[in-house]
Order: sequence, then C-alpha cells, then structure tokens
Amino acid sequence: MHRQTFYVTTPIYYVNDVPHIGHAYTTVAADVLARAHGMMGRDVFFLTGTDEHGQKVQQAAARRGVTPQAHCDELVVRFQSLWRRMNISNNDFVRTTEPRHKAAVQNVLQLLHDKGEIYRDTYEGWYCVPCERFWTEKELVVPGPYEPIPLEPHAAPPPSIFDCPDCGRPVERVTESNYFFRMGKYRDRLIAHIRANPGFIRPEPRRNEILGFLERDLGDLCISRPKSRLAWGIELPFDPSFVTYVWFDALVNYISALRYLDRSTPGSLFERFWPADVHLIGKDILTTHAVYWSTMLMALDLPLPRTIFAHGWWTVEGEKMSKSRGNVFDPNSFVEAYGADPFRYYLLSQMTFGADGDFSSDRFVGRYNSDLANALGNLLSRLVSMIEKYFGGTIPAPSPDSFGDWARVESAFPRSDAGGLRIVREAFPDEIPARYADLDFKELLERIWTAVYGINEFIDKSAPWSLAKDEEKRPLLSTVMFVAADQLRRIAVFLTPVMPAACGEILARLGVSAASRFEEAGGAWDTALAGKRVVKGVSLFPRIEVAKAGAA
Ligand code: MSP
Repeated sequence: MHRQTFYVTTPIYYVNDVPHIGHAYTTVAADVLARAHGMMGRDVFFLTGTDEHGQKVQQAAARRGVTPQAHCDELVVRFQSLWRRMNISNNDFVRTTEPRHKAAVQNVLQLLHDKGEIYRDTYEGWYCVPCERFWTEKELVVPGPYEPIPLEPHAAPPPSIFDCPDCGRPVERVTESNYFFRMGKYRDRLIAHIRANPGFIRPEPRRNEILGFLERDLGDLCISRPKSRLAWGIELPFDPSFVTYVWFDALVNYISALRYLDRSTPGSLFERFWPADVHLIGKDILTTHAVYWSTMLMALDLPLPRTIFAHGWWTVEGEKMSKSRGNVFDPNSFVEAYGADPFRYYLLSQMTFGADGDFSSDRFVGRYNSDLANALGNLLSRLVSMIEKYFGGTIPAPSPDSFGDWARVESAFPRSDAGGLRIVREAFPDEIPARYADLDFKELLERIWTAVYGINEFIDKSAPWSLAKDEEKRPLLSTVMFVAADQLRRIAVFLTPVMPAACGEILARLGVSAASRFEEAGGAWDTALAGKRVVKGVSLFPRIEVAKAGAA
C-alpha cells in the first residue's frame, strides 16, 4: 500500500555557484519523481533551495563590496529562474538565510545542547581555509610539485607541511575551542539501520561504501566556527561567539522548510510529510547525508528518510567540468536553443540513474533527431495529417469488427511482446509507475520508446494510404486511426513527468486535456477519444541541423 504523501528533496545548492548540468540533473530527476508520484494520486511536496552561509559567500561578497545578504539575494535568482525555465514544479524553495530556517537550526541546536548531545572541547587539527574543513593527518597528502602560490613580499611561508586533499593548497595547524555533536555514539545504531533497510541508501554500491566507512571509528562532529574566523552563519543559541558549521546548518533545510517549529500542530506540513521519501543527492555528498544527517535525526528522535539516493556525475565532452578548464556546462543556453523537454529527456535517457555519464552535444543532437524529431514528433504530425486528410480532422470511432474483433486489432501488431498495443494498455499502467517509483528512468524511457516505434510500425503495416483508396475499407481505416491516436494518447500520459510541456501539447493536438493521473492511460479500449478534433500545429521537435548544433 502506498503512503498518501510523497516528499522529495534536492540538495540545496551553493548560492555562489553558477547553476550547471550537475545541479540541473538532480533537480530534473526530483521533478520527474514529484510529478510521477502526483500522477499516482499522492499528495506531493517537492523541495529545492540554496545553501547561503559560509566563508566563500562571505569572501565573494566582500570582494564585491556588498553585504553577504545582498550578494545572496542577487545570486539566488540564477537558480530560481533556471528552474522556472526548465519547468521545475517545486512546491517550495528554501534559503538558509530565511528566518524560518535560522529559527529551526537554532531550535535543533538548543534541543541537542539541552539533551547533552552537544559539548564544548578544544580541538587541534589541520584546517584548510578555502575548503572550510579540518582534515585528519591520515587524510592529508604530502605536498606535490604544485605551482607555489605567490607570497606577499616579506610574508611568512605557509606554516604547513601538508596540502589539502581536496584543493591542493596548504593546510594550517589550528587549535580551537569548539562545539561538538556526539555523532560517534550513534555508529552502531546507524549500521543496524542500514543493514535492516536495504532501500535506505541507494544504489547498492553506495550503501556498501557507507557501511565500509562506518567500519572505522566514527568520531564526533565539530558543529561550530568561531565568529572571529567566520561571521556569516547562524549564531549558536547558547554561545553567541560562534556560528553553526555550514553542513549542520544546511542539512536542517529538509525539516525547516516543513516548518519544523510548528511540528506539533495537527495537520502541519511536518506531520504530513516527514520523513522524506527520497533525498536525491550526488555521490560526493553521500557521507554528509547518510552519516551526519541520519545521526542528527537519531539524536532528535526523528524518523530517518526512507531513501537517500546518490546519483553519479556528469563529465562534459569526456572531461571533468571545472572553472579552470572553462567547460562548465550552462543549461540556460541549451534550454534556450532546444527547449526544456528535450534537455530533460536527454539527461534521464542517457545514463542509468546512479552511474556516471558523459554529456556530449553530438550525442544530444543524435538522440534528439532520432527519438524526438523522427520517432515521437513525426508520429504525432503524420497521424494528425492523416486524420485531417481522411476524416476532416475528427478522430473516427473504431469498428473492431473490421479486424474481426479487438483481439485481432491487437495481434495485427506483431511485436506484442515488446511494445505492442496490448502491452501499453495492460502492462504499462503497472510497470511504468513502478519504474518511476524505482528511479529507473533510463529503462522506462526505453520501454516507452519501443512502444512509440511500435505505433509507427502499426501505421506502416496497416498502410492507411491504401485503405483510404477503397470505400469498403473505411471501417478498417477508422480503426487504425483511432487505435494509433489512442495509443499515442496513452504514451503521452506515461511520459508526462519527463516532458510535461511536450506531452501536454501532444494531448492538446489530439483534442484532450493534459494528463493528471496515470490511470488515464490504462484500461480497456474505449471510444472516448472518437469525435475529438485534432489540431494541426508547428513541428513539436523540429530536426536539429548539425551546423546549428555546433553553434550552441
Ligand atoms: N550545498 C551543498 C549541499 C547541501 S545539501 C544539505 C552542495 N552544493 S553544490 O552546489 O556544490 O552541489 C550540489 C549537487 O550538485 C551535489 O549533489 C553534487 O553531487 C552535484 N554535482 C556537482 N557537480 C556535478 C556533476 N558534474 N555531475 C552531477 N552532479 C554534480 O554540495
């Protein structure tokens, strides 16, 4: 039995970053899940947002001579406008500088402090200033032959014998008094939870990775930064000389957006939607979610999310994306050139969710032309033209007797085991929603495309153009046109979560309204579509000429 509600989240993105394909990927996947679960009849809450505290924001604002808050207010728009452009249906957008979020973080801190889950201690360790984190000696690497950072005249050389494993810059020895969360004591409970709930961390290799990580000792988590070093953060409620460590702050977004402070109010968002069904994240931030966040929730006596799904990373044209390479992929120009739906389709059809993949413009153009322009777009336009030509634009009522009966209509299409007519009607209504729920996007799109090719083949084999020449064959022609139109209608319903605008348009051209439930695509043949007027329109997916692709 399904729960009635569904709560899905993306990571909150660093506001300083330029939105790129990695951000777009998680957000599209979350959007598809949110829409699919909505079409299963569930009450959905879909959250995304921005992570706005920390040293990098403080420094960037200072360089520009504006306050950190003004800096964030300006930058957040880049994410919000990209999501609008990409047809993202988030119900809320949380910013960590909002009062509701700060209040929730402070409430969590105070609660944990009162329960003795947070203590003060002196810590000595290797600290990387740009990365804002301590490293243990084991994790550090011996400096390699890196380009030395030019020193100010007379400045002391860096007091480090180690380099940061992340950014390669020298780390500093820092002794600091700080606050710690007793994370370590939850290690055994967390291991037991992961073992007992195979769907908790997905996909499987990531789950094993976290179990491996937990085999070692789990230390406590430093959750504060002295204000003398970092002012841009949420003040600790029990000690105003410190701000909250950015990750501790950021993770709380998943409950602050549900108005955590109103949690006891009957019918509150928190009561309805917590625990989250899926936290979608990239593989690089799995530990913070699977370990920090889970243990924070345990300390708060809150249930853990049902699934944390860590997807893979994109390279671009075979290379790792980086600012220094100048190959950071900006989805805006792509969406502008080809539309949001083709981009959404490509992201999900190109790689198995969970694995790594490569984005290449040539491959995008290839898939666009074959799957969207030639297969789906062409199916719609030829069908509409034929209904115009043979039936004056009105979808005809079928007459199954012209084939013998419905069973014969269905067996007229030989590939019934793959994408045949019967499969779409009988198997897809269970299979497709289940694949959405299982985040099996690539496979489900392959299944749907087999059916798209199937309808094209059904038309080709039935040869409406020759049936039309013989008045006696009109009943047969009606059946072929009706069946093809109704199959395409069903396909558009199943595909709506991935390509909402295009599917809405396909349905409109078949004279029906946009789909809100998968149920609309199931069930026996019925003639409700007969009598609807088809609408001719511009090509849904105009072919991309290769010269144009090169320019994008
Ligand atoms: N602010 C933190 C998340 C806090 S969540 C409580 C953060 N932000 S981020 O902007 O750096 O990254 C957000 C997401 O983008 C991560 O899930 C990360 O995995 C993803 N990606 C960054 N580069 C990526 C690719 N090249 N490919 C796919 N996803 C990538 O981390």
